[in-house]
Amino acid sequence: MAPFRRALILAAIILTSLYLLHRHQSNTAPTVLSQKAEATSSSNDKAASNAAAPAPYTPPPGTAKQQQLQKFHELRKRPLKEQLAYQFPYNVRSKFPKFIWQTWKYTPSSNLFEEKYRESEASWTEAHPGFVHEVITDSVAKHLVKYLYGAVPEVVEAYNAMPIPILKADFFRYLILLARGGVYADIDTYALKPAQEWVNPAFKPSNLGLVIGIEADPDRPDWHDWYSRRIQFCQWTIQCKPGHPVLLEIVSKITKETLERKRSGQLTKDHHTVLEWTGPGPWTDAVFQYFNDPEYFDMETSTGEIGPMNFTKMTEPIQVGDVVVLPITAFSPGIGHSGAGEVDDPMACVQHGFEGLLPKMELSLRLIS
Ligand SMILES: *[C@@H]1O[C@H](CO)[C@@H](O)[C@H](O)[C@H]1NC(C)=O
Repeated sequence: MAPFRRALILAAIILTSLYLLHRHQSNTAPTVLSQKAEATSSSNDKAASNAAAPAPYTPPPGTAKQQQLQKFHELRKRPLKEQLAYQFPYNVRSKFPKFIWQTWKYTPSSNLFEEKYRESEASWTEAHPGFVHEVITDSVAKHLVKYLYGAVPEVVEAYNAMPIPILKADFFRYLILLARGGVYADIDTYALKPAQEWVNPAFKPSNLGLVIGIEADPDRPDWHDWYSRRIQFCQWTIQCKPGHPVLLEIVSKITKETLERKRSGQLTKDHHTVLEWTGPGPWTDAVFQYFNDPEYFDMETSTGEIGPMNFTKMTEPIQVGDVVVLPITAFSPGIGHSGAGEVDDPMACVQHGFEGLLPKMELSLRLIS
């Protein structure tokens, strides 16, 4: 996409989010109200302004404002997951939003953007005409999280408390997908097929809300030495509609864990902790938790708990409720284990760990006669 068009689109997105945020705040959040209230009370009422703490604002009883404020305070007492569900309602009948989200230290318009990622980054734009494709930098991500999650400050606090960039990058993909939906893809992934073609139309997109792939299916007794889960779902590429319950689950799980670690002084940085904090392990757990949640699924008709064994060695996509799980070849082609097919397999959709193939010239001396 031309830099100018990109800038124009980004400006439009930011203006829209500012507008929505503003509208949203005037609907529900008390922050705007209380700031105004403080200003009014300190100018109107000298006694109140002399008090040690400004009196909390209370709109006249019975007014719409007071009801809104009360509703907001009641909502804030609900569990985190319910607050998030209220902020980001899920509608399975909506369309998959036409967003491609990626994160990196630099945007492609920067001359610091690594050459080895140019081809993979461009592959997403080329495969998705009509989509908004954004590479979000750390500083933009920080502001976006603050805007999107202003009404659920625990999430912003957790994001800011994370001690290393890889945790924030992991968390950000879930946050942007919960709030806006679309496709998230790591910067070193290559789009082999447009997202609209990942799932066979027989699956009816209006019945789906989440599309995931398998990262590993280690069918060996010592699998635990290599992977944290017997079946591991990828989180380097995810497609969803905003507000999907698995995203609600992972965002509230990570937020709680981070704030708990912050409180107990356990914001450690070792690699294993990272994997179990925000990585494919907890992501996989969130998916299985959803599959077995009586809040969403009718357990009367269930034929037993859904676990890793229901997905091992699968070669065709499997639908569970509104989730499609793609076989390992879809997002992990060419990995050389777990029964994955090659990159040119018709089922391959995304290639991970793609670092560009600079065409090399043949190094040989040849006589042209
Ligand atoms: C999942 O696999 C278990 C056996 O591991 C089986 O009992 C159960 O019926 C399967 N669930 C579905 C929905 O096929």
